Amino acid sequence: MSIFYDDQTKTFTLQTAQTTYQLQVDPWARLLHLYYGRRIGDDCMDGLYPAMDRGGFSPDYYETALQRGAASPDIRPQEYTGFNNGDFRVGCLEVTAPDGAAGADFRYTAHRIYRGKYTLEGLPSAYDADQEAETLILTLEDPVIGLRLELLYSIFSRQDMITRAARLTNCGVGDLVLDKAASICLDIPFGKWELLHFHGRHAMERQPERRPLMNGIQTVSSKRGASSHHHNPFLILCAPQTNEDAGDCFGAMLVYSGSYRMDVELDSLGLTRLTAGIHDELFRWKLHPGESFTAPEVLLTFTHRGLTALSQRYHHFLRYHMCRSKFTLARRPVLINNWEATFFNFTTEKILSIAEQAAALGVEMLVLDDGWFGKRDDDLSGLGDWQVNERKLPGGLNPLIEKIHRMGLRFGIWIEPEMVCEDSDLYRAHPDWALTLPGRKPAVGRCQLILDLSRDDVVDYLTEVFSKLLREHEIAYIKWDMNRNMSDVYSHTMPADRQGEVSHRYMLGVYKLLERLTTAFPDVLFEGCAGGGGRFDAAMLAYFPQIWCSDDTDAAERLTIQHGTSFGYPISAMGSHVSVSPNQQTGRSAPLGTRAVVAMAGTFGYELDLNTLTEDEKNEVREQIRFFKTHYELIQNGSYYRLAAPDEDAVIWQFVSQDDTEALVSLVLPQPHANPIPAHFALKGLEADARYRIEDFRIYGCRGQTPRAAWLFEREYSGAALMYAGLTLPQLFGDAPSAQLYLKKL
Ligand code: GLA
Repeated sequence: MSIFYDDQTKTFTLQTAQTTYQLQVDPWARLLHLYYGRRIGDDCMDGLYPAMDRGGFSPDYYETALQRGAASPDIRPQEYTGFNNGDFRVGCLEVTAPDGAAGADFRYTAHRIYRGKYTLEGLPSAYDADQEAETLILTLEDPVIGLRLELLYSIFSRQDMITRAARLTNCGVGDLVLDKAASICLDIPFGKWELLHFHGRHAMERQPERRPLMNGIQTVSSKRGASSHHHNPFLILCAPQTNEDAGDCFGAMLVYSGSYRMDVELDSLGLTRLTAGIHDELFRWKLHPGESFTAPEVLLTFTHRGLTALSQRYHHFLRYHMCRSKFTLARRPVLINNWEATFFNFTTEKILSIAEQAAALGVEMLVLDDGWFGKRDDDLSGLGDWQVNERKLPGGLNPLIEKIHRMGLRFGIWIEPEMVCEDSDLYRAHPDWALTLPGRKPAVGRCQLILDLSRDDVVDYLTEVFSKLLREHEIAYIKWDMNRNMSDVYSHTMPADRQGEVSHRYMLGVYKLLERLTTAFPDVLFEGCAGGGGRFDAAMLAYFPQIWCSDDTDAAERLTIQHGTSFGYPISAMGSHVSVSPNQQTGRSAPLGTRAVVAMAGTFGYELDLNTLTEDEKNEVREQIRFFKTHYELIQNGSYYRLAAPDEDAVIWQFVSQDDTEALVSLVLPQPHANPIPAHFALKGLEADARYRIEDFRIYGCRGQTPRAAWLFEREYSGAALMYAGLTLPQLFGDAPSAQLYLKKL
């Protein structure tokens, strides 16, 4: 077993291949965090926290009042905080008893260690495919209010990943009210740390920002009812010297898609505390006696090997322990989506002409985007009415699907199940199915309201509507969109004192609907989307092996979006397409080759009318698809390395196959210079003693000038030469030229 309990010291030690996590029950039965970091063996580390009297402003527990400083909750590292008990740092919990007393103080009562992974009622969480996980469940009680706290830990030793969650149960006789219930507290008592987080906005998601911690609290959060474009529920705490290749760093990824909050506090004594969980604003959960509340999971890791190692751990873990779709590791089709080609303005003929041209060039699936149903010629109306718009598609979907199939393509379709337009039959029939505040006109985003998925009847209705769609048509793929953030949170069936549960119950409803549909239709490939990457999180990956990364398809902007996304999420999860040039979002031009190089750092597909291309361009597309299919395994299932970031002159990344025998380097120069500093790069992840041959070297968008680069063709080098001396690229000209280099081990 990799989880040990030492009865002498009352210490729990969790070992993974390269990390150790340790906690202890103190003499007063309170739980302390002792250590998380590089693997240290089983020594008990309670000596790290000698008693120090800090005076009256960091009070002691009542029982330790005379042993001043021995056990102050305000000073010692905690595993999960109490409430209103003298720990003045950011807390996990706010709870109120029937007499109005707001407080909690937990004591350890029991623990359980077993093989396997815990599951969480109603919430997606990591699974244990290879029977490698071990679980520790610690039970703590506050006997005064009858609140039980269970802290759940599963460790995946080989992956160096620890998953945590918390469950609160009312074991008392009166109702308890939770105003905050975080999933975890992680105290890092020593060291200087920087916060690396991923912020952004619609069409510019997951921009990395790295800052030294300030004293006090810094928050990464969303109150939008979605994990959001604006802050991803994933952060890294790294030592100041940490870079891609070396240095200490912790990762924390919340497995939740709704409003959340991650606080990092640097306290007055140099301790760094991270708490993470559901956002406490608009949250109030009533626990009747016997009821439990489960806080979502957090995926924790630590490495001393830098950011690339940390990212690769998340990539691997999400693919093998979170994504459940059978398509995760399988070869997925190269698709063409009609959205940027036609927007709402299409006919059957138009779709067929796009499909026909795409099929001729090697595309494998056509996706019909928004506008195929109800009264939907723009975004003013129609959401909720999932009957085919026969004016656009006479005879329904099946005749179209048949024709698409005859071209040798599979068929996929766009849906937005969680929404309703006021101008729809569904809304007219069930106005109370939308989230709206009584007596107020709701805020309207994209002319749509949010269906109340906290209600079982609404979830059941949607289950039936979309099951019918999938039962009655041969649909191979679903793009599941969600195009506004949540306001006016109020459910018309929930009692007044439970309205604070609506936004989380909404998420539970979304997960229930997703669970039902993905389980009933396992052969359908589901892609997530929320106005691009507005809900790009680990919980969504449990249902969607891929998520549309951004509504911004401009290659230069995608470089930064995909780069930021790669810190936490795998290439195989990033929906990415080649679109038209000049780009529709920025007006900027980019060569066709560069657009494809960038889209190949993702699931790869097209989103333009291929009929508008010249014959030369069509041949180029044919070759891109051939190239992508040839290197599919390497790109989608290989290890991903960031070689040069978008703030450098050249953006460079590399894939290495799982068996180290192949590598693909991709490079884009967003703005070439006259008399440039040469783009030099060192490869990573190769075998130093092996020899590699550059089998394929391609340059795109170089304005007819073929650089003199003979030394890059058909050359052989040792892995050591490639990794330690590196390669230098010739000068590239043009608007955002790019290159790809494919190497094979001899
Ligand atoms: C969102 C998606 C787009 C497209 C439109 C359709 O913005 O991100 O890709 O599907 O909706 O309305």
